[in-house]
Amino acid sequence: MSQNPSIIPLPVSCRLTGGAPFPIAGDTVIVAADPALKGTANQLAKILGVKVADRAPAGGNAIALRVDPALGAKLGGEGYMLTASAGGVEIRGGGPAGVFYGAQSLRQLLPPDVERFGWRAGGAGVQVPAIEIEDRPRFTWRGSLLDVSRHFSPVAEVKKYIDTLALHKMNVFQWHLVDDQGWRIEIKKYPKLTSVAAWRENTTQVGAEQSFDDVPHGGFYTQDEVRDVVAYAAERFVTVVPEIEVPGHSSAALTAYPEFGNTDAPGYAPKIQNRWAIFPETYAPKPATLQFLDDVFTEVLALFPSKFIHVGGDEAMKDQWEASPTTQAFMKANQLKDGHEVQSWFIRRTENFLAARGRRLIGWDEIQEGGLAPGAAMMAWRDVKWAIEAARMGHDVVMAPTSHTYFDYTEGTAEEEGGAIGTQTTLEKVYSFDPISPELQPQYHGRVLGAQGQLWRERMPSLALVEHRAYPRLSALAEVVWTPPEKKDFADFRRRLSWLLARFDRLGVNYRRPRA
Ligand code: ACM
Repeated sequence: MSQNPSIIPLPVSCRLTGGAPFPIAGDTVIVAADPALKGTANQLAKILGVKVADRAPAGGNAIALRVDPALGAKLGGEGYMLTASAGGVEIRGGGPAGVFYGAQSLRQLLPPDVERFGWRAGGAGVQVPAIEIEDRPRFTWRGSLLDVSRHFSPVAEVKKYIDTLALHKMNVFQWHLVDDQGWRIEIKKYPKLTSVAAWRENTTQVGAEQSFDDVPHGGFYTQDEVRDVVAYAAERFVTVVPEIEVPGHSSAALTAYPEFGNTDAPGYAPKIQNRWAIFPETYAPKPATLQFLDDVFTEVLALFPSKFIHVGGDEAMKDQWEASPTTQAFMKANQLKDGHEVQSWFIRRTENFLAARGRRLIGWDEIQEGGLAPGAAMMAWRDVKWAIEAARMGHDVVMAPTSHTYFDYTEGTAEEEGGAIGTQTTLEKVYSFDPISPELQPQYHGRVLGAQGQLWRERMPSLALVEHRAYPRLSALAEVVWTPPEKKDFADFRRRLSWLLARFDRLGVNYRRPRA
């Protein structure tokens, strides 16, 4: 058979060996002796409707999962080999993550109906074609951001979002927990962040932004819920990177605790925002505020094991720093000549705080203004040129440009979509993206950790709308960050995509049907 099997993202190499297939039925057993593989084994068993055992039954009939350190030396911990023949299926991973990714490929070798009916989807059973797959990702950061500030999603929706990422072998979930329109994470030391800053009275209306609904909106995650989501994601080899915005996008926090802002700036009156814009509120560089930020990050670090912590850093207006006599005096005392340097001072301080605790700071490309903190990584959103510059200066970068990875930007034309923001970002355009810009010299390629797709939710109140904007563009991005560029082929992707969309139908993922 010359066609690629319908796996997205496309594996590095697949060979249909032409032998008899392996049948999966009620007596098939998933064998996983390694405790590190129990989660993957149980998840796969649940989908297929079969049992997990520590040892293969007499006579085979098993899907064997194991970690193979020698394979890890060759393909890395996220690499795997999947071999299927009449006698059985074996998934060997370079590490536990590799085994998980092999299991996602196995799922996609089976008919979409397995997602609902397990092995019974095929009546007497389903068949795995005789195949050998060797696979590993191109990039280590295969991410997606979900904004839960502009519109909130309860835990069950967040888990569903993570499930769909994991099916695509995406491994970073950036949880945008904080913004002007709502603070969404419980911080025990500052209860007003959730009693006050998590709630707004009303919201500007899509398509009529001067008018407001009369529906209060809000919500937050308790620390127990956060731990639950982090653990759930970890079982799917997804790292949750929290985003806590510093020093801007802080209207909600400053509504709850106005004393941490530039209180002597004329007209200072923070309010939790109910519309979409950039607002002048910023944290003030004074001891009480710095203590507040340290306290918040201390609680955040206890909840999120991620090495990287995202501190936002985008779109911080400088007006209130310039208008506040106290901040002006601070700037003078610290030889900061303008607002850009205040921004940079905040980011450097936060970077030191995180580094002292064994973590790394990542922030949006504005963190470069006024000088990038030495160990900081950058996420480029306005233009990849910022990342190219940062990579050349020795910083790790993640590509998240509006041009290709902002999935709040519409896929169709403005007429088709009933209005649009940003540029039209088609499926093919997303697919064409290469995180390694041709302008970046080879010696800096290793600085590009990967890419990320953004789901900002100003205009997406429901998860159904999020999924409609996300998919299948995020499926295309998954292939961008996984598959070797020389193997990418849009026509072949479209063919394989029809199978993935059928799978989405069974999983209840509300994707946008691509044009024929
Ligand atoms: C951003 O879109 N402000 C990162």
